[in-house]
Amino acid sequence: MQMKSGDELKNLVKWTEEFPHCFPLWYGGFLAALTINHPEYAKAVYSRGDPKCLVLYNFIVPWIGRGLLTLNGPKWQQHRKLLTPGFHYEILKSYVTPMVESVKVMLEKWEKLVLEDPEVSVEMYEHVSLMTLDSIMKCAFSCQSNCQMDRENSYVKTISDLTFLVYQRAKTPPYHSNLIYWFSSQGHQFRKACRLAHLHTDQVIRERIKVLKDEQKLEKFLKKRRLDFLDILLFAKDEKGNPLPHEDLRAEVDTFMFAGHDTTASGISWLFYCMAQNPEHQQKCREEIKEVLGDQETIQWEDLGKMTYTTMCIKESLRLYPPVPLIARVLNSPLVFDDGRALPKGV
Ligand code: HEM
Repeated sequence: MQMKSGDELKNLVKWTEEFPHCFPLWYGGFLAALTINHPEYAKAVYSRGDPKCLVLYNFIVPWIGRGLLTLNGPKWQQHRKLLTPGFHYEILKSYVTPMVESVKVMLEKWEKLVLEDPEVSVEMYEHVSLMTLDSIMKCAFSCQSNCQMDRENSYVKTISDLTFLVYQRAKTPPYHSNLIYWFSSQGHQFRKACRLAHLHTDQVIRERIKVLKDEQKLEKFLKKRRLDFLDILLFAKDEKGNPLPHEDLRAEVDTFMFAGHDTTASGISWLFYCMAQNPEHQQKCREEIKEVLGDQETIQWEDLGKMTYTTMCIKESLRLYPPVPLIARVLNSPLVFDDGRALPKGV
């Protein structure tokens, strides 16, 4: 089967209904992949720990570098070990307050827009992605970017251009060749957008290094807050005691900055869509949240676990509209599914 531009999602749904376990798919004339839909098949593949297929990820490497998302093998293990503290469940608790602040800014913007024009229509994703970028900047990088209010902020626009260009490249076979792509106008736009994104992340890193080098500032800084993801990266040392090279450091910052805000923005936007489509469930969530919060002014970490119905709706929305609709693996060895069907090594 061949992807035709514009019909991608429609076709994927159609073929999935027709072939509920899996079907082969050609991306352009050169790249073939077996698309797996069935949960049992997916479990059989993903539980083995085969390496990620980097063919598509390689298109984003000039942008996010070789970080956790795009690494495999020993280097992935090394980075993952160094960054383990950044993934600790406990760390999430301290994210609630900065996230609430970011959400308040977004809601105040919406209130203002509605007061000015009760019929106003809002491009949700744009507002939500500014809010999630603001949140990740505060939570992982302790940066008060003010990006929700600062209309000059071009980072989100750059990220959305980059996402679009990567997708265009993936589905345009001649652009899979680096030589052709870098000479094309899209390749030129992509390179320019990468430069802008790197300027942004380099600035965030530079400012933190300045603080960490200045002992007085560092003392004040650490009194005010806990170590964040960027500190963990900057303090990380390999087995020989060497810090992460700048290139690796920037790759992890770019990966977190992108992976941490684009996925959540998409998930939240689709949740709003589902809520709008299902007002009765929206009402149930509203009642549940009101009951849990009572007369509290803000939400606390402990409240989240009590919002069971709302959590179910969020999970269902993620299931129906996953922000990352596919991930890819290359088989290291042959695989036999429970029903006896088999795949050879290298698929
Ligand atoms: C609804 C939100 C999210 C979804 C749906 C999502 C989805 C995914 C998926 C499917 C992968 C696996 C990719 C693969 O194996 O090829 C992944 C990996 C990753 N995600 Fe997320 N993600 C979300 C939020 C986040 C956030 C908030 C962050 C960071 C703050 C993040 C950082 C990463 C990183 C670093 C990896 C690579 C992990 C590794 O290979 O060790 N993601 N994500």
